[in-house]
Amino acid sequence: MKQAHIPFFPGKFHLPPLLRKDLRNIETMIREEGQSSNPLMNSMISTLILNGGKRIRPLILMTVFRGLDGAEEAVQQAYHAGASLELIHTATLIHDDLIDQSKLRRGAPTIYAQHGIPPAVLAGDYLFVVAYALASTLPKNLVQKIITDLRHMAEGQLLEEMINPKTLTFTEYLNIITSKTAMLFRSACVSGAFLAGASESMQQVLSDAGLMLGIAFQLIDDMLDVMGNENITGKPIGADFLADKMTLPYLLYEEHFGDLPQERTQETFQAIYADLTSELVMLQAKRLAKEKTKNAQKGFSVLTNASIRTFILEICDKMLSRIL
Ligand code: IPE
Ligand code: IPE
Ligand code: MG
Ligand code: MG
Ligand code: MG
Repeated sequence: MKQAHIPFFPGKFHLPPLLRKDLRNIETMIREEGQSSNPLMNSMISTLILNGGKRIRPLILMTVFRGLDGAEEAVQQAYHAGASLELIHTATLIHDDLIDQSKLRRGAPTIYAQHGIPPAVLAGDYLFVVAYALASTLPKNLVQKIITDLRHMAEGQLLEEMINPKTLTFTEYLNIITSKTAMLFRSACVSGAFLAGASESMQQVLSDAGLMLGIAFQLIDDMLDVMGNENITGKPIGADFLADKMTLPYLLYEEHFGDLPQERTQETFQAIYADLTSELVMLQAKRLAKEKTKNAQKGFSVLTNASIRTFILEICDKMLSRIL
């Protein structure tokens, strides 16, 4: 079996002490809430949670909150929001692996691969419920905003399944990734800003920055699916190709090299690999991820706390450096 425990995203780079404390507190909350008195449920969800993950959504949320010098009285609510979004994300991963028929997650077999379909559906459901319970302690206006984003997330995942990959356009692809991934990043930013008491206009700027960051994040994930290192991503290479997905590298491949092979197998993946990872495809893909990241950074520059502002710009660069 592959070794579990995928490295925490910020890795060795310096987390401001306040954020380090915040992330530790949210981690405790995630681990406490991500339990069940049912032994199988408990083993499924706690294994996935303990196997790591980058915790990037709560990190972004707390960075925005601290970047606006949010009041200490609101910190507990920010923790609830951060833990809730991370658990929602974890629930979607369980269902996503079932939908994508993925075998590996965070360096270990997926719940779907190890236990089958019914336990995977129910483990995802369980974590959604836990996450909503945490979110129910948040101000109603904020919950409304988060719910809107979560509706988009489910709709985006559905759209990806229903659309014909052979005719998918670049605009449709962008719509899918905006909904399925970027909306949750938007929720993280809006939650941090809302709980820090930011004005509506400030919330809007940060909401847009979150959306840009989320789009860049999925573009990078889609590139790493082709050219990543399984020991770092904890996910198998070429999974999107084998699952009949049409993502940015494949859209660009078709633009430059013609139709993808009719049959999607390990052999045909190897056959197109050199062209797929050629500069022609990857430089263009990287350019797009960079452009979206730069847009996000422009939005984050409204954060008022200078050292936190520098830090979030670094997070964005670090994210981009996964592919550059
Ligand atoms: C994976 O998210 C799903 C995508 C939106 C690409 P992450 O890459 O944040 O997964 P973990 O939490 O670090 O495992
Ligand atoms: C998943 O996208 C997005 C959501 C979970 C909503 P992917 O299917 O690309 O995520 P990974 O690569 O399996 O983590
Ligand atoms: Mg997947
Ligand atoms: Mg998927
Ligand atoms: Mg992926």
